[in-house]
Amino acid sequence: MLERHHALPKDIEQFSNLKEEVTRFLMKYKFALDEMMTKIKILQEEFQYVHSYHPIEHTKSRLKSPESLLSKLQRKGLQLTLNNAEKHVHDIAGIRILCSFISDIYAIADMLQQQKDIQLLQTKDYIKKPKQNGYRSLHLLLKVPVFMSDRTEEVCVEVQIRTVAMDFWASLEHKMYYKYQGSAPPKMQEEIKEAAEQVNALDRRMERIHQEIKSGKAEQHQDDELSHTPHELIALFGTTKNKDE
Ligand code: GTP
Ligand code: MG
Repeated sequence: MLERHHALPKDIEQFSNLKEEVTRFLMKYKFALDEMMTKIKILQEEFQYVHSYHPIEHTKSRLKSPESLLSKLQRKGLQLTLNNAEKHVHDIAGIRILCSFISDIYAIADMLQQQKDIQLLQTKDYIKKPKQNGYRSLHLLLKVPVFMSDRTEEVCVEVQIRTVAMDFWASLEHKMYYKYQGSAPPKMQEEIKEAAEQVNALDRRMERIHQEIKSGKAEQHQDDELSHTPHELIALFGTTKNKDE
């Protein structure tokens, strides 16, 4: 038979306080995500307008669930307190930015770091120094101020920037890792590592072609400028002269 437990009013109050505390704690991370996503959207739109080119293919954001936050604290052997969560778990607020080309990754990272209210805490460049398994991505740990009704808090956000091809690889590797709980058959590990090298070769090749197209465009543009008829040139100088007068 099921035994009925009656929660005491004190327990209910304690639980409700705890719930409010956790919600309030997570809220500031949600606001930090909202703020960062707006910043990224502005960069994306403005860049597109000024340079007629979009360096960002896709952006995703996620807030860590309370369950996954607790299990991370446990994995790190830490007491389950919000203080520890804030201090030791840096990916409560996470953003992933996907670019077409490797150079876009660094351009986006620079643009974010240049913003006055963004503080860079840490950079992990897994593109220059890939992980043993072949994982590539640029990770930035940033701090942004969140302005609330009664206080301002500096909140940590983890930003992962990678190419679409790197993301394709990371999704599959993630599946493999979870399916085999970190110990996939050696043959499969070898194969995924090889695939990472192929992804890298493709990324570098695409980058090279992309740069060639870009510089080709510049040459084309110069040619265009040189190909005015004498009449057009006179008209052009004429306008300048008139303006100066
Ligand atoms: P975590 O405790 O997992 O946060 O690792 P960390 O504190 O050492 O941070 P790191 O920057 O190395 O990794 C953070 C995040 O990057 C992970 O949560 C993943 O989203 C991603 N990541 C890191 N390494 C790998 C990898 O080998 N494969 C895949 N698929 N993703 C990775
Ligand atoms: Mg993580």
